[in-house]
Amino acid sequence: MNFKQLETDILSELKKRVASKRLGHIISVSKTAEKLALHFNLDSQRHKILGLLHDLCKEDDNQSQKELLQVKFPKDQTLLANSALYHAKTSFFKSQELFGLTADYLSPILWHTTGKAQMSVDDKILYVADYIEPLRTWHDKTFMKQAIESIDALILKILSHKIKYTIDSGKQVHPDSIHCYNFMIAGQ
Ligand SMILES: [Fe+2]
Ligand SMILES: [Fe+2]
Repeated sequence: MNFKQLETDILSELKKRVASKRLGHIISVSKTAEKLALHFNLDSQRHKILGLLHDLCKEDDNQSQKELLQVKFPKDQTLLANSALYHAKTSFFKSQELFGLTADYLSPILWHTTGKAQMSVDDKILYVADYIEPLRTWHDKTFMKQAIESIDALILKILSHKIKYTIDSGKQVHPDSIHCYNFMIAGQ
């Protein structure tokens, strides 16, 4: 795989699809995921690419995203009812279509909003990178240290915060987030 070319192609696609503030977040997630992958001895180039693609469809219109999800996940009523969750799934499919990457390679993108039970370390890296990247208003200088010391403890913290926020917003909590929470708590 020619990573330099792939990166250039993804960046030019992103510039067509997302606003500059979002692009800043995306690049920041990509750098954070790359750093974490290096620390965990995983494929840092892959994580750089996953970071770049994770929000690819975030600014696509909700109706067209929903139409795809009605085909791919017809029974997932919680997903279909919560447009904030759409882009994780649609970005995963769009990335396969546009860049010829495999479902296996891209799978962490599927779980970056909800989490799930039994996340792989690759899934965990993207999930954490999306939340701790330095441009987030809630950024904390100790995030990277926390991720390295115990990525599971940090995930539990992020997940609890996200679930509470969803409840406070009066929205449904996706079962994958509950399964992720229960799985992480059981492993503490
Ligand atoms: Fe996202
Ligand atoms: Fe994101």
